[in-house]
Amino acid sequence: MVSKVYTDPASRARADRFHAAAEASAPAPVTARVPDEVRFGAVRIAPATILAPMAGVTDTVFRRFIKHASFGPGTAEPSGCGLIMTEFTSADGIYRTRESKRKRYLHFYEDEHPISAQLFGSDPHILAEAAKIVEQCGFDLVDLNLGCPAKKVVKCNGGSGLLRDLPHIKVIFETVRAAVKIPFTVKFRMGWDDTQIVCVELARLAESCGLQAVALHARTREQGYSGEARWEWIAAVKDAVKLPVIGNGDIRTPEDAALMVAKTGCDAVMIGRTAPSNPWIFRQIAQYNARVGSGERPLYEQPTAEDRHQMMRTYFRMLIEEDDGIIGNATGKMKQFATWFTHGIPGGKELRKVVYDARSEQQVMDAVERFFAEREANASEESVATPSSLEQMPMADCG
Ligand SMILES: Cc1cc2nc3c(=O)[nH]c(=O)nc-3n(C[C@H](O)[C@H](O)[C@H](O)COP(=O)(O)O)c2cc1C
Repeated sequence: MVSKVYTDPASRARADRFHAAAEASAPAPVTARVPDEVRFGAVRIAPATILAPMAGVTDTVFRRFIKHASFGPGTAEPSGCGLIMTEFTSADGIYRTRESKRKRYLHFYEDEHPISAQLFGSDPHILAEAAKIVEQCGFDLVDLNLGCPAKKVVKCNGGSGLLRDLPHIKVIFETVRAAVKIPFTVKFRMGWDDTQIVCVELARLAESCGLQAVALHARTREQGYSGEARWEWIAAVKDAVKLPVIGNGDIRTPEDAALMVAKTGCDAVMIGRTAPSNPWIFRQIAQYNARVGSGERPLYEQPTAEDRHQMMRTYFRMLIEEDDGIIGNATGKMKQFATWFTHGIPGGKELRKVVYDARSEQQVMDAVERFFAEREANASEESVATPSSLEQMPMADCG
């Protein structure tokens, strides 16, 4: 492993300049909005919003759930979520696994298009072979993970481990790019740590190797999920390349998404942890977008407790229907979701305790039904706050 400091002073100066400009310009101009579309090669993403890959979360059920929750009130309305992605998948695993078993990793339904498959690994040949399999499976795009900070991934030079070896990344970019026709994108963090910030160089490298887009989670590997995402580095990347730049990190509301676009000029926004607690986020962005520039305050719908109830039922039903071994343990997923989804609901803590002890799908369902029935008996409809802190959300060591 080459360990080298790549941070170039010009990139840092550019980021500092954007940082200063962004600080001075807050809040976002009211005309700022997420773009209606962006193109990654031949693939059109409309609107320019992306559900971030999340290990253990973004399986086919969750992806379809979010995509459908993002439709407008009329079914003719397009989904507010422009692109969904699989969680990161081992290129080695895909390459070495029998075709029948691959289904577990690469399963998706027709209504998920456009969809991207994210790979991690460090061997250029194996990544290229895995990308070919992804293409044959019918994915619209393939993405490389250069952000995963998990020790077991980094130890094998995958994920963010590669951020310390740009020459090797170049070989991967070239080999994978030559292997497939579908758009090839990369998602990375700013660098290993503050002494080795490489995101600008990396974006340039991606451009020169013919990739179609870059996504930056604006934190270093060392940072994990601590502190705030440093959007000024998204601006610095955007300033350095012509290919589309996807901004990622700490978007909780439509206002945040607009602010990120205003401050960085990014071409698309990617949303991770907010989605499990507020599956309406993409629809809210679409509603906000529709009103920006109209002279009115850009408002969007806030879910009521009843909306949340229906949403949980829908997701649980989808999980149970899909519980055929592809997505794994439905009871576990229901518990996980109930935990995220009830943050912000008064009394949610009690529900979480009961759900934690449940032993079957039915017991989770019953606990949720009881909880909402009691709420209904005690209160009228009320709007529920979106969790203000992403720290309440699932933390991962995968991106
Ligand atoms: C539970 C969880 C799992 C994640 N798994 C992945 C992954 O598989 N691949 C990846 O590139 N990033 C992964 N990430 C990182 C997210 O894609 C995203 O970059 C990060 O959460 C910052 O965005 P946010 O502030 O909108 O959550 C994961 C994050 C979480 C919380």
